[in-house]
Amino acid sequence: MAQRIIFTNEVQDAVSALIHEMNPSRVFVVADENTARVVVPQMNVEHDKLIVVSAGDENKNLESAQIIWDALQTNGATRHSLVINVGGGMVTDLGGFAAATFKRGLQFVNVPTTLLGAVDASGGGKTGINYHSLKNEIGVFAPAHAVVISSRFFATLPHREFLSGYAEMIKHALLDSEAHLHELLTYPVQDMDAEKMLEMLRKSVHIKEQIVMQDPEEKGLRKALNLGHTVGHAFESLALRRNNPVPHGYAVACGLVTELVLSHMLMKFPSGILQQTATFVLENYGAFPITCKDYDTLLSLMAHDKKSLSGEINCTLLADCGNYKTDVSISPEDMKAALDIYCDLLHL
Ligand SMILES: NC(=O)c1ccc[n+]([C@@H]2O[C@H](COP(=O)([O-])OP(=O)(O)OC[C@H]3O[C@@H](n4cnc5c(N)ncnc54)[C@H](O)[C@@H]3O)[C@@H](O)[C@H]2O)c1
Ligand SMILES: [Zn+2]
Repeated sequence: MAQRIIFTNEVQDAVSALIHEMNPSRVFVVADENTARVVVPQMNVEHDKLIVVSAGDENKNLESAQIIWDALQTNGATRHSLVINVGGGMVTDLGGFAAATFKRGLQFVNVPTTLLGAVDASGGGKTGINYHSLKNEIGVFAPAHAVVISSRFFATLPHREFLSGYAEMIKHALLDSEAHLHELLTYPVQDMDAEKMLEMLRKSVHIKEQIVMQDPEEKGLRKALNLGHTVGHAFESLALRRNNPVPHGYAVACGLVTELVLSHMLMKFPSGILQQTATFVLENYGAFPITCKDYDTLLSLMAHDKKSLSGEINCTLLADCGNYKTDVSISPEDMKAALDIYCDLLHL
């Protein structure tokens, strides 16, 4: 990753130092209505204009991008202005996109305020908006000049949002080592300690960074980060069809369990680690409810996942923690068998 990642709970100092160093003509802060209220005042960084968009992924759209472009234009942004995105993945994706396209690209700094933002969305250089109900349909790869990661803003984050990001941390740990996974599965998620969490963020982001650095534009290796997501996306889409959406990380947590089952079936992933992960997911996230009547719909959703090029079902699987294989083709029979075991493990 070309961008600098700064881990600190002294966010004001870190951002002020960056502004001083970059010496921009103007400083624009982009936030959503929640982060503008609860985070921007705490951050207390001098800026010329605060640009506020409506919260929620449904507002990660062209209208919101236009609000940002309009505000930049009417408030004298130049090529040398700086955009600071303060928010979750919705704000960093949208603000990053708006900055990267305005006057062919303003520099931007991300200050993620959700756990998902910190460990996943704010780094890695993917920016974009949803378009005609398709997720992230329009966007560019544009790394932030810097990402300032802290755990101090998580105090006001709803617990569901916290857990949603924690699922991505579990994914990173599975791609790293058994010790890393053990640390996460035994961490008291109900009672977070900000300093310990900052250390855990550092470790988690490092895993993603190592993978993205080797494959910034997702041509191969980066697909490792898709672990849990082939099944997770299908659960997420099924929930939407039922008009009962689930947070992304909840679907991913259950997707991870199913893909670990497949890993055990096809690559001898240790059953003890599968069992521990399933127990953690059941206790903290609950089971995403399915029955065998949902299997055909789920399989069809998986085959049409935008990351599947051939119409086949492909997963990233593990032989052990840290030992992954991307693009493993899964037969419908194996996927159905894995879903059966998922239901047993999570007591459905
Ligand atoms: N670019 C990438 O690589 C990447 C990776 C994963 C996800 N994403 C994107 O990230 C988005 C999801 O991100 P998210 O889960 O952070 O959601 P989000 O940005 O929508 O934030 C969730 C909610 O929490 C509120 N919030 C944010 N910080 C808060 C705080 N500190 N205290 C109280 N409330 C706070 C927000 O206003 C919002 O209502 C999606 O659009 C997804 O596509 C991008
Ligand atoms: Zn994800």
